[in-house]
Amino acid sequence: FFKYQENPEWHGKKVLVTAGPTIEPVDPVRYFTNRSSGKMGYAIAEEAAARGAEVTLISGPVMLDVPHGVHRVDVNNAKEMWEAVNARFEETDMVIKAAAVADYRPSEIVQEKVKKHQDNWHIEMEKTHDILKSLGEKKQQQILVGFAAESEKTEEYGKNKLRDKNLDAIAVNNITQAGHGFDGDTNEVMLYFRNGREEKIPLQTKAMVATALLDALTNFFLRQGS
Ligand code: CTP
Ligand code: CA
Repeated sequence: FFKYQENPEWHGKKVLVTAGPTIEPVDPVRYFTNRSSGKMGYAIAEEAAARGAEVTLISGPVMLDVPHGVHRVDVNNAKEMWEAVNARFEETDMVIKAAAVADYRPSEIVQEKVKKHQDNWHIEMEKTHDILKSLGEKKQQQILVGFAAESEKTEEYGKNKLRDKNLDAIAVNNITQAGHGFDGDTNEVMLYFRNGREEKIPLQTKAMVATALLDALTNFFLRQGS
């Protein structure tokens, strides 16, 4: 019984997957983060490795085991994720960016624990580095696949990100619909490709979504004739 099939197209390809949230500290005991279990990214990493790719998984803090055959690099915040991704980008064939990167971090990290003396606490936040956008600006042979979690105008916002970040494909999910994304084990995404092709991956387990996604992406490797 073969659960997975090695694809010749994926064999030996260097695939970088990011997964999970980032956490942005404000003092030694508190941080800002966002909702991401990491399950989607981990499922993609596992599936790519099963197809024969050389997979590096850059992971924010999550409660998941390292998938079989995958090399995991642990990071905490957006800056560390950027450094880990950027250091490996040149030699990478494909980046799949499933991570939920924090968009803002506290402008200053307070060195000592902040005591609750005041009734209100105003925290100034600054934007983090947009990792995917930077990759889109400097990419050469690399295939870039983004994710987008939207609560409205999913097609419009998704296609905007595809264009603005210079991606080859983007997987968009609508977080307001039941069973889509975040903590659960299921997901449904719309795939938009650079060439205008669209493909719906219907609601199913994240492992099955990963399989469908990689099937769809196989065409990119086929087209390169490698
Ligand atoms: N992303 C990234 N670096 C960031 C923020 C996002 O690399 N600092 C990546 C995500 O990993 C994802 C894609 O960009 O693959 C889209 O993320 P999303 O949060 O949907 O979009 P943003 O560009 O951050 O815009 P907004 O949150 O305002 O919708
Ligand atoms: Ca964001």
